Amino acid sequence: MKKEEAEQLLKKYGQEHILRYYEELSAEQKEALLKQIAGIDFPMIERIQQNHSKEGLHKGKITPLAAMQLKEIEARKAEFRQIGVKAIEEGKVGAVLLAGGMGTRLGSDEPKGMYSIGLTKEVYIFERIIRNLLDVVEDTGSWIRLFIMTSEKNNEITQKFLKEKQYFGYDPFYITFFIQEMAPATDYNGKIYMEEKGKLSASPNGNGGWFSSMDRCGALAIAEQEGIEWLNVFAVDNVLQRIADPVFLGATIAARCTVGAKVVRKAAPDEKVGVICLEDGKPSIVEYYELTQELMDAKDADGEPAYNFGVILNYLFCVEELKRIVSKQMPLHIVEKKIPYLDDSGNLVKPEQPNGYKFETLVLDMIHLADSCLPFEVVRNKEFAPIKNRTGIDSVESAQKLLKENGVEL
Ligand code: UTP
Repeated sequence: MKKEEAEQLLKKYGQEHILRYYEELSAEQKEALLKQIAGIDFPMIERIQQNHSKEGLHKGKITPLAAMQLKEIEARKAEFRQIGVKAIEEGKVGAVLLAGGMGTRLGSDEPKGMYSIGLTKEVYIFERIIRNLLDVVEDTGSWIRLFIMTSEKNNEITQKFLKEKQYFGYDPFYITFFIQEMAPATDYNGKIYMEEKGKLSASPNGNGGWFSSMDRCGALAIAEQEGIEWLNVFAVDNVLQRIADPVFLGATIAARCTVGAKVVRKAAPDEKVGVICLEDGKPSIVEYYELTQELMDAKDADGEPAYNFGVILNYLFCVEELKRIVSKQMPLHIVEKKIPYLDDSGNLVKPEQPNGYKFETLVLDMIHLADSCLPFEVVRNKEFAPIKNRTGIDSVESAQKLLKENGVEL
């Protein structure tokens, strides 16, 4: 992009201030800034300015979606397992680790996966995740391609760390990294913040863009060449989760669903997890803050709470379905954040309070764009130990306790 083109574009969207320090920059910095401008999704910012408070909220009619529960899973385990193992042996399954987040709540400067949760030795989050996947590799005797999504902010350090640790025993031939896109951060009026004189303030664009980023970076082409038909996408921070779980896979295939979602029984009716449901007859997830008292009190045919299963960010998607999903528009979510910025005198300010917006798309919104989804219940204490904070709920402490209960040495 040339400077004149950038000027025109920025004028159209009222973002001329971005070129304010342009003449002070070196040739290299100028080029980098123009490249960054060219990569900004301006229509997205406009979309937010016009209608931000409503996007991402559910508007349709919410009805229950029955989950496949532990009892049925136990009774049909051998059948499901056989189907799942066959798909893995035939190379039809890939795993996608979402590791592009900033892990702000954990408060570590390094990528979340590099955090050690060990007590007497180092036990890294990445190590736990990879060990869990290796269990399936060992069990089935088949390697599963592991795609790892990083962001521009943490890609280099993540790759270096995993290489140094020899990928915790995973064969690097079966690991493919790809980088997600960045979204600019703005003030409350939609003006993009500058982080340096030649750099816009931008952060990873949420975990909902993983499949389009996979496509853009060529990782999808690799998956297709290898004949991968199913992708199990999962968060970096649940150290107990089972990945490419043959029983989950087999159950989703047997149910003829294009998507599967691992779910846990809620600990309390008002627990802060997204709950699986139908919205206007299509699978969907209703966030805890959208769950009305009426929905909380609703009962199913067995007298059990009708909206009782929370998602744990472990989904199985059929690749063909993913292609249809990404051709539709994902809702945008707005998060208020503390965004470091250059003030009028060009000094960097690190605010103590939120001072603007960051935008993201979320993987959970993909569920509503899918045709069918099997909610698949897993035992909470065996498969759900998310690490969001240092202490308290969903923390390093709670995960350490659960790992010990499950016989993992720390
Ligand atoms: P979270 O929503 O918990 O975000 O991510 P986070 O960035 O890890 O943590 P906080 O909110 O800043 O404390 C859920 C999963 O989605 C991934 C994360 O790495 C995690 O596996 N993620 C999130 C991405 O890959 N990219 C993103 O832009 C955001």
